[in-house]
Amino acid sequence: MKKFSYFSILIGIFKFSMCSDFNFQWYANIENFGSNVMVPVESYIFLEEQQHINNTFIGNNDIKNRWVGNTTFLISSQFPSSLNMLQAQKLLLIFHGIDTFSKIKLNGHEIGKTDNMFTRYAFDIKDYITNNTSSSNELMVIIESSMKLAKDLYYNHSKKYIVYPKCVPKTYHGECHVNHIRKMQASFGWDWGPAIPTSGIWRNVDLMIVQDAIILDHTVDLYEINKTNWRINVTVFLEAALISSNEPIQCELSIILKINNSYLNNSKTINLLNSQQQSISLDVLESQIHRWWPNGYGSQTLYNITTKLKTKSGVQIRKKRIGFRTVKLVQEPLKKGLSFYFQINEVPIFAKGSNFIPMSIYPSKSSNQIYARYLLESAKQVNMNMLRVWGGGVYESDFFYDLADELGLMIWQDFMFACSMYPTTPEFLASVKEEVKQNVWRLKSHASIVIWAGNNENEAALYGNWYGTGTQKIYEKDYIELYVNLIRSEVKKLDSTRPFVVSSPSNGDWADQNGWIGTDPYSTFYGDIHHYNYLANGWDINIYPRPRFSSEYGFQSLPSIYGLKTVVNNLKDLTINSQFLQHRQHLPGGCEFMKSLITKNLKLPETTDALNYFDNYIYLSQINQAQSVKVQTESYRQAKSYIYDSGEGNTMGALYWQLNDVWPAPSWSSIDEGGRWKILHYFAQNFFAPIIISPRLSPTNVITIFIVSDELNSRYNCSVEISVHKIQKERFSNIITQNFNNVTINANVAYELSTVNLEETLTNASCGPNLIEAKNNCIIDMNLKDDNGKQIAPTNYIYPSALKNFNLPACEMIVSFDSLDYKVTLQSLCGIQLFVWFDFSSYRSGRFSENGFHVMQGVKKIYFYPNIETFNLLEFIQHLKVVSLGQLYMTPQPTNKVCINCLNL
Ligand SMILES: *[C@@H]1O[C@H](CO)[C@@H](O)[C@H](O)[C@H]1NC(C)=O
Ligand SMILES: *[C@@H]1O[C@H](CO)[C@@H](O)[C@H](O)[C@H]1NC(C)=O
Ligand SMILES: *[C@@H]1O[C@H](CO)[C@@H](O)[C@H](O)[C@H]1NC(C)=O
Ligand SMILES: *[C@@H]1O[C@H](CO)[C@@H](O)[C@H](O)[C@H]1NC(C)=O
Ligand SMILES: *[C@@H]1O[C@H](CO)[C@@H](O)[C@H](O)[C@H]1NC(C)=O
Ligand SMILES: *[C@@H]1O[C@H](CO)[C@@H](O)[C@H](O)[C@H]1NC(C)=O
Ligand SMILES: *[C@@H]1O[C@H](CO)[C@@H](O)[C@H](O)[C@H]1NC(C)=O
Ligand SMILES: *[C@@H]1O[C@H](CO)[C@@H](O)[C@H](O)[C@H]1NC(C)=O
Repeated sequence: MKKFSYFSILIGIFKFSMCSDFNFQWYANIENFGSNVMVPVESYIFLEEQQHINNTFIGNNDIKNRWVGNTTFLISSQFPSSLNMLQAQKLLLIFHGIDTFSKIKLNGHEIGKTDNMFTRYAFDIKDYITNNTSSSNELMVIIESSMKLAKDLYYNHSKKYIVYPKCVPKTYHGECHVNHIRKMQASFGWDWGPAIPTSGIWRNVDLMIVQDAIILDHTVDLYEINKTNWRINVTVFLEAALISSNEPIQCELSIILKINNSYLNNSKTINLLNSQQQSISLDVLESQIHRWWPNGYGSQTLYNITTKLKTKSGVQIRKKRIGFRTVKLVQEPLKKGLSFYFQINEVPIFAKGSNFIPMSIYPSKSSNQIYARYLLESAKQVNMNMLRVWGGGVYESDFFYDLADELGLMIWQDFMFACSMYPTTPEFLASVKEEVKQNVWRLKSHASIVIWAGNNENEAALYGNWYGTGTQKIYEKDYIELYVNLIRSEVKKLDSTRPFVVSSPSNGDWADQNGWIGTDPYSTFYGDIHHYNYLANGWDINIYPRPRFSSEYGFQSLPSIYGLKTVVNNLKDLTINSQFLQHRQHLPGGCEFMKSLITKNLKLPETTDALNYFDNYIYLSQINQAQSVKVQTESYRQAKSYIYDSGEGNTMGALYWQLNDVWPAPSWSSIDEGGRWKILHYFAQNFFAPIIISPRLSPTNVITIFIVSDELNSRYNCSVEISVHKIQKERFSNIITQNFNNVTINANVAYELSTVNLEETLTNASCGPNLIEAKNNCIIDMNLKDDNGKQIAPTNYIYPSALKNFNLPACEMIVSFDSLDYKVTLQSLCGIQLFVWFDFSSYRSGRFSENGFHVMQGVKKIYFYPNIETFNLLEFIQHLKVVSLGQLYMTPQPTNKVCINCLNL
């Protein structure tokens, strides 16, 4: 151990699983750092737990701790040779994920090397284990610094030409040349996250004993043969260990499907003479199964398919869960360009959701099942049906996709390449080929995955000349080599059931027909787009394009002060101009954009207390983000069934950027690091609701009222109520309503119900003597009800002018929690309260049925849903803050009364 001049991490406990059903664990003697750790283990996490470094998220410790990424590590373990191991023909030591560059030694022999974090490596160690059952084997995994190797690879390659970009932008405080290595691309810094170049064993390690043959890998293809029959095709890779070269191993391979309490099966006998791939299939009748549907369209029925391998040495069992569904990406000619939408089970689906970045900047934490479940359930709770696993992160864990299957969340799966040029050396291509093969094998059985995409924004980077590649043919050649000739053709071979797009954004089929890079990937007439605009007023619906599919769009906000407080050295750092915040704001000009966007619609806070000002500013940033994303999303949903004069429209997807966060920092997320919902996440529940009523206020003051339904049945005899609320101090406004009766909500379309003249509406409600004044005095809301008077869409609002022009009523609120059922009653002691927001410190304690809402008529009743069995209401309300927009402009800012069982309204 001492001969290494670098740090060593000694793994104490490995969990080893054997080829059949036999498990054992071992413990090792520990030197150096003095305690046992389990895989997965990672440099930063380990050193922090052992108190060799301070929490990397605090202050600018990400920079102070950067030496960790520059260091070589040794991870080692000692284990005995069991009798089973000694009797084996082959012993496969399998690393499911090493991050990233390692040399692996066993008892002094180098057994292998790794250089791709996304692939599994298997080594036969039979010849190197000790034959002495009283002594130990010594396993060493030496992990070299990925920062250093990236640099070396860059220098070597730059003798030929430079693979751009050399580095991430300065504002990321990141590291360079990550595009040369097959490691999570975000670990060298991103615009929402710190550079934390981890080293470690980030997934499990298995030891498989091969007596004769084992299933090393298995996968399932499931497809419709014709209208009545489905085929399930299981393919296994059998690793064989021959005793002699002419004595075949006899095995029986079988598959069993349990369906409605009966079993369907098929089997075959194989005589193995070498390791090889084998397939076996089973046909199922449509009439026997229930289909799998995305969230909102039906249930998520899943079936177990069991694969068995019987050999002389025993029986091995493998399981996968499958769901019956068809997927088609429809790209058909429209007036201009092509459509681009998903059909699941022949039903056109409007994709609603978000982009998933890694669950943690520490890749090993992607195996955190509790947090994965929390995030995916949070997506489902707000009516999402699709998540995009973005190309700068990792191929997520099996558990993640199992959950997506269960919850009906469709997955748009990128391959892990983002915002760069990439090399195409033979070594790099070979490594990627294996990565693609393994991950497609691992993931293609999941019903949730509905599309593969070759990369994130690499076509855009080339087309838009982001990195000065200009018209140099080498970069175009490399692009086609990697994503078309290699990844696309591999995926087509491995999975014939799903669509593949070369990049996101891209023009889909149109790009394929135009040399892959010949057309503008941001075209609104083809494929998907990514759209960001920090200059125009995000609350103005008229600024947004109406593409076929928007797979990224968003606005930044600040995270809750509760999260930020955990990562500052000093509370004085909690101001909008602090070094601390500047350090965390990686988007160039991000803080200035945020302020300019907020102040287009909202007045800055008035308090002079610095901490309180900052807290209020966070709240404004979250209102701005939530409202802007809401308006943009509704604009997309309104365009679902229309093709406009420009040729835009038929929009069928809205995936905002981004669902989650990896540290407390300014970002586009709707959920803070750790799990606290921002205002945006609560808003998503409404703007992604199955039916919405949604306004479009034109620059000429005409309101078009849209009804958008994703339901597959029409509804009849519904009604729409439009009310005008006057903003008045000390009392509630009169309400003037305009009604539409006998409204039909057509299935799965968006349509214009009617148009309303704003000036007329405001004048009729005596909002003011002229249009300009009237616009600053009234808010309009709209409600959609079914024939029983039950509300079937979230209440929606029109702010006739920017809210900063309004003289909002200011007064206190009383909030009462019912101690039995956690019903929450809120009373305003004066007029309308806008954007009422409950912020609470223990974010895992639960969620409100609504949050960030308006109280138009004095009283609002909602629910709190606690998560934790030990939920303590008294403690909860002591750490609960309630605020409304009007209260920011009162001096002193009021403290609202929060109490238990204290209102009876
Ligand atoms: C951790 O932070 C404390 C307080 O700032 C400091 O005294 C200590 O030296 C730091 N430890 C390390 C290992 O940097
Ligand atoms: C990493 O190590 C190299 C030399 O080995 C040194 O030049 C560089 O400054 C180091 N970087 C950091 C962030 O420690
Ligand atoms: C242990 O014994 C086996 C079988 O005799 C042999 O193949 C192997 O090389 C031996 N291992 C060592 C480390 O000596
Ligand atoms: C086996 O290992 C034990 C413990 O290291 C040692 O005492 C013993 O001599 C070894 N036996 C042989 C045959 O090498
Ligand atoms: C569907 O495919 C199955 C299996 O190949 C076949 O037996 C059946 O006749 C086909 N049905 C139709 C309607 O073509
Ligand atoms: C099953 O999959 C394998 C591997 O992709 C393929 O070679 C074989 O043709 C497939 N069989 C059926 C019946 O689909
Ligand atoms: C599938 O297998 C899992 C785990 O063994 C089990 O919990 C589940 O109930 C099974 N599902 C069905 C539909 O049989
Ligand atoms: C309601 O609308 C339906 C469909 O447009 C129409 O047939 C029916 O006569 C209308 N009923 C009333 C009372 O207007």
